[in-house]
Amino acid sequence: MISEKERWNKVARTYSKKIEEENSQGFLIREKSLNPYLFKALRNVKSKKVLDYGCGDGWLCGWLKNRGAKVVGCDISERFIKLAKEKYKGIEFKVTNNKTSYKNNEFDIIVCNIVLHITKNYEKILNEMYRILKPMGKAIITIMHPDYYKSEIANFSKNQETLKIKVEGDIPVTYYRRNQNSYEKAFQKAGFKIKKKQECKAKGKKIKEIKKYFEKSFFLLWELTK
Ligand SMILES: C[S@@+](CC[C@H](N)C(=O)[O-])C[C@H]1O[C@@H](n2cnc3c(N)ncnc32)[C@H](O)[C@@H]1O
Repeated sequence: MISEKERWNKVARTYSKKIEEENSQGFLIREKSLNPYLFKALRNVKSKKVLDYGCGDGWLCGWLKNRGAKVVGCDISERFIKLAKEKYKGIEFKVTNNKTSYKNNEFDIIVCNIVLHITKNYEKILNEMYRILKPMGKAIITIMHPDYYKSEIANFSKNQETLKIKVEGDIPVTYYRRNQNSYEKAFQKAGFKIKKKQECKAKGKKIKEIKKYFEKSFFLLWELTK
């Protein structure tokens, strides 16, 4: 059976291309319903030490660097990290897993953008994030909204815990069935305090290709503190 890491290695290049295509649905959904909230949560990053956990092709690290953050990125997939290094010179990227080699209390801000709902051991990632975040530091977590993917795209049957969805080509990515409460309990178990929760509904002028995202939140964002 193919591991999660292998799946991500296989989809890395296609995924990266898709989120760059300015008129693709994937690009528009992020642009209208996630990024406005994510960027607002990531205000005041100048001179801050920031980690992008599960950075993919590094696009957010590039965005953070342009705003003066001292940013590094890590990801489980070697392919994504290779791509990130090619695209964003001068940023340090590392292959990691649920455990990293960063020091205790190293980061002012850690962002984990649309990673936890596709990750089996999400609690381990949260424990690790807590260890390497500074006291009073900020963690920003986004996931695809559980209400949305459970009802509208996934059709989980009653007791089903995981669902494989073909997001990119023929390679299925696993989504884990968890409700908001499970995430919030896990944040608290790891030691975090929840500062803010944000429903992310598409903003701005309605675009017909992604009309339904203006009615329902497609993403969910939490700001946590240590
Ligand atoms: C949906 S993609 C999001 C990528 C990126 N954050 C973005 O904004 O485009 C999920 C990412 O999480 C990474 N990932 C999955 N499990 C991981 C783990 N245990 N540790 C670190 N990264 C992981 C995948 O390789 C992939 O890059």
